[in-house]
Amino acid sequence: MGRVIAIANQKGGVGKTTTAINLSACLAEAGKKVLVIDLDPQGNTTSGLGLDKDELENTVYQLILNETTLRDSMYKVEGIENLKIIPSDVNLAGAEIELIGLEEKEYILKNEVDYIREDYDYIIIDCPPSLNMLTVNAMTTADSVLVPIQCEYYALEGISQLIHTIDLVQERLNDKLKIDGVVFTMYDSRTNLSSDVVDTVKNNLDAYVYQTIIPRNVRLAEAPSHGLPINLYDGKSAGAESYRNLAKEVIARG
Ligand SMILES: Nc1ncnc2c1ncn2[C@@H]1O[C@H](COP(=O)(O)OP(=O)(O)OP(=O)(O)O)[C@@H](O)[C@H]1O
Ligand SMILES: [Mg+2]
Repeated sequence: MGRVIAIANQKGGVGKTTTAINLSACLAEAGKKVLVIDLDPQGNTTSGLGLDKDELENTVYQLILNETTLRDSMYKVEGIENLKIIPSDVNLAGAEIELIGLEEKEYILKNEVDYIREDYDYIIIDCPPSLNMLTVNAMTTADSVLVPIQCEYYALEGISQLIHTIDLVQERLNDKLKIDGVVFTMYDSRTNLSSDVVDTVKNNLDAYVYQTIIPRNVRLAEAPSHGLPINLYDGKSAGAESYRNLAKEVIARG
């Protein structure tokens, strides 16, 4: 049974894309069949996995508008067996408007993914930093939402709004949707702030908290400019180690 995980937090820059790229790559490295869907017009997952956004014939945008097929919008990720991607580019920014008035616009992505759900062990969806119709499409497609939380002072800002959105989608559009859990990112062991944030979130949030904490690691920040996931860019770095552990934990939770 394929498990579909949406990586969402409408707060920008919290590590959604870094987690989408590296969790996907580490799940694939562990032998799982993985598809990652870039649902952010910024296309950072796309370029971070080595695809050239200017050379793509089809993206998730054409797929959503029914201008291409699943097969034609899927690309191999160089260097990683078992990992495929449906990329995105800036055109996707217009999709929101083009979806207006379409029937079942909340389910456009789901209706596509349903054809291939069983072909993958994991389908990971990287969401844009907003709670728009693209994110709703990710949430109707997903079994669960994984929420990266950056270890910084404003970490909890917006989280109640995010949880409210997940609850609404669960009530009205996708009754199987769950909050998968929270992953702390960019943890800095040298500051008290990071550990304070972890404590505060644990005390305030009624959601599973992944034991794996992603440290702030410069190799994770460098890897996307080489178009490589961390396990290929620097497989021995603390960042690679942490995302391998996260993949293990995701697998162990079934
Ligand atoms: N653990 C980490 N250590 C160091 N740098 C990191 C780490 N995680 C993410 N970064 C860097 O922080 C920035 C934001 O990360 P990322 O793009 O993953 O966040 P995002 O939530 O996807 O952002 P957006 O909301 O814009 O989509 C990027 O420059 C990324 O390289
Ligand atoms: Mg992103």
